[in-house]
Amino acid sequence: MTQFSPLQDRFGRRIDYLRLSVTDRCDMRCSYCMPQGFSDYEEPEDWLTFDEIERVVASFARMGTSRFRITGGEPLLRRDLSGLAVRLSSLEGVTDMSLSTNGTQLARHAAALKKSGITRLNVSLDSLCAERLHSITRRDALAQILDGLLVAKACGFEPIKINMVVMAGVNEDEIETMAEYCFRHGFVLRLIETMPMGETGRNSGYVDLQPIRLRLQARFGLVDGLVRGGGPARYLVSPDGAGSIGFITPMSQHFCETCNRVRLSVDGTLYLCLGQENQFALRPLLRDGISDDELDAAIRSAIELKPERHEFREQPGKLIRVMSMTGG
Ligand code: 5AD
Ligand code: SF4
Repeated sequence: MTQFSPLQDRFGRRIDYLRLSVTDRCDMRCSYCMPQGFSDYEEPEDWLTFDEIERVVASFARMGTSRFRITGGEPLLRRDLSGLAVRLSSLEGVTDMSLSTNGTQLARHAAALKKSGITRLNVSLDSLCAERLHSITRRDALAQILDGLLVAKACGFEPIKINMVVMAGVNEDEIETMAEYCFRHGFVLRLIETMPMGETGRNSGYVDLQPIRLRLQARFGLVDGLVRGGGPARYLVSPDGAGSIGFITPMSQHFCETCNRVRLSVDGTLYLCLGQENQFALRPLLRDGISDDELDAAIRSAIELKPERHEFREQPGKLIRVMSMTGG
């Protein structure tokens, strides 16, 4: 056994968070993410199996990564996802297991997911207007998503965060309505700036959230605050602590210097940065019968490839990969 030293990159950042994508498929086609007719999916034989995912998570956990998030595509499209979550959340060293979903299947799965050890939930919701949501996601899903959210709340998920991608001329005028909806239900609202990932991301109507932050602060009397979760969101909270709004601003105020995460895609590629091509293929090693020690060493060497920062602003045309390929 090598002596324990936590995973750290060349820039001294601790990697204590892994996002794992369990599928690149999705039942929606959000305008900023997947192109409309997209079907260039990974083949099932190239998906990491549950056993393989478990090995990777166990390896990260041995090296001090304690927080894991299951993502996609839409993760609830992967069969027996809660079975996987049970296995992962019972691994030694895994202290926090969360899920990001588009909510379309949430009502059906919420109870099993809650039992599986997942505690925290992020749900994408860009509009409360059915027609609008349809034109953003190209599916008629509002009623299902709202139902899913209420079922999840009744099952005891805490916190539930709603991720809203803010787009010029699309849903910018709905932020206050969304905030009121979230305050009413005890959900944490997070506003997200679009990133130029793929043509879809580049054409999505970027809005700088800094002025919106000031507007909301004044309108709801919010103050700077903290909300559980180790991510890049900066929060405003209501004085009584009951309501909170997070701002995820990769473009107007990037947070690369505190980046604590890497991503594992469904085909077993580790992506070291959302905005760069730096990657490391784990699947061939896993299928070659690599030992646990060798897997740990491979992941350590992959972490060395993590770049200092994204260059979304300097080189917006650079990234061909859309979010559903990397894992959101
Ligand atoms: N820019 C910002 N966020 C994106 N997502 C997908 N594509 C983009 C993009 N181009 C994120 C959103 C969405 C989640 C599933 O993925 O947060 O809610
Ligand atoms: Fe699906 Fe999420 Fe992409 Fe929308 S953003 S198409 S819900 S993967």
